[in-house]
Amino acid sequence: MTGPGYTSSRRTLPLEGRRVALGVTGSIAAYKAADLASKLTQAGAMVEVVMTAAAARFVTPLTFQSLTRAAVIDDMFAASEPEAHVEVARRAEAFVIAPATADCLANLAQGMTPDMVTLTALATTAPVLVAPAMDGQMWEHPATQANVATLRARGVCFVGPMPGRLASGRMGAGRMAEVPQVTGALRQLLGRDGDFAGRHVVVSAGGTQEPIDPVRFVGNRSTGKMGFAVAEAARDRGARVTIVTGPVALETPFGCERVNVGTVAEMLAALEAATSDADALVMAAAPADFRPASPAGQKIKKTPGQETLDLSLAKTPDILATLPGGGVRVGFAAETHDLAGHAVEKLRAKRLDFIVANDVTAAGSGFGTETNQVTVFHRDGRVEELPLMSKYAVAHAILDRVLRSAG
Ligand code: CTP
Repeated sequence: MTGPGYTSSRRTLPLEGRRVALGVTGSIAAYKAADLASKLTQAGAMVEVVMTAAAARFVTPLTFQSLTRAAVIDDMFAASEPEAHVEVARRAEAFVIAPATADCLANLAQGMTPDMVTLTALATTAPVLVAPAMDGQMWEHPATQANVATLRARGVCFVGPMPGRLASGRMGAGRMAEVPQVTGALRQLLGRDGDFAGRHVVVSAGGTQEPIDPVRFVGNRSTGKMGFAVAEAARDRGARVTIVTGPVALETPFGCERVNVGTVAEMLAALEAATSDADALVMAAAPADFRPASPAGQKIKKTPGQETLDLSLAKTPDILATLPGGGVRVGFAAETHDLAGHAVEKLRAKRLDFIVANDVTAAGSGFGTETNQVTVFHRDGRVEELPLMSKYAVAHAILDRVLRSAG
């Protein structure tokens, strides 16, 4: 079983085949829209750009045309196709307006159509995602906030604006959201009626850090990529997602709640809280099995002539074995030998619905890679060997099996 629209290619390119209209209005942030158009196209979307005349003074239509390989609509009075925007509006599965100026928000709220972007907005029934960009005081002005409230009440979604340095040189909340956030918000919007809609998926990710002293820790090589891929894929299928993660160098996928933890004890506590209403727990983290038995309160100093340092390690709790519920329970087994034997033993001991096992010594699998080749061992004894795939595609394969286990 696959989710609605989750074709095999969409498991590699999340926006494969999706028709996205991109409205660009006249802000200095229009340069980010060029990158957005490029990233959406690379992610498989068919992007059609509509621009205001002011936007075309910041970035030329030719830039967007080259990036999207599609005609750009920027002239209300173009003789050739006066109704082209209506066709774009009809075809679109989503209309993203990025950047959206204060003026654009005001026109949208009033149903005014002085330019091609607002005209297209009025002509579409597709969901609308807006990424505002303006000076902080303009964003905070009651007039703008009233327009935002009107648009939200009408079902328009917002991404940003973000706090930071503004074009005026001042600091404030008015920066257009960065491209990964806009793309994430779009994916969430397009997937909101997906097969995980109404479900809460809890994902753990990354390794833990068990203190030796205030500046050192015992850790492992987990980068969190597999767990974050599961979180993104679940978000793309409509789930509410909580990521409980050890320290990793990954951005939070848009729309996912993130809980940062350091130690196994903290991860256990965070997962106990997060799984109270979970429909699935995907335990992709690599919690430490042992921690320094008595961490030093001060930095451990070496003494002259000292050649060794003995660390006494104590067992940490097995999080999966300790947690009572979580809905459909999925574990991972990273092994270097006897994959099947170890995986099946963990499946039983940790009361899992299925376990996703990989040989971390195999090429293309394991820590830090973009791909994974996994074998799924089910509680009922079934074994499925999956091909080498991107971690995002593996995430979808896992979620398909979560749905089947949920019944
Ligand atoms: N796990 C856990 N709590 C721990 C250690 C691991 O919940 N303290 C989870 C992992 O997140 C993973 C599964 O248990 O989903 C298997 O983890 P793995 O490290 O492969 O196995 P361990 O049970 O730690 O056994 P070993 O290290 O001996 O292979």
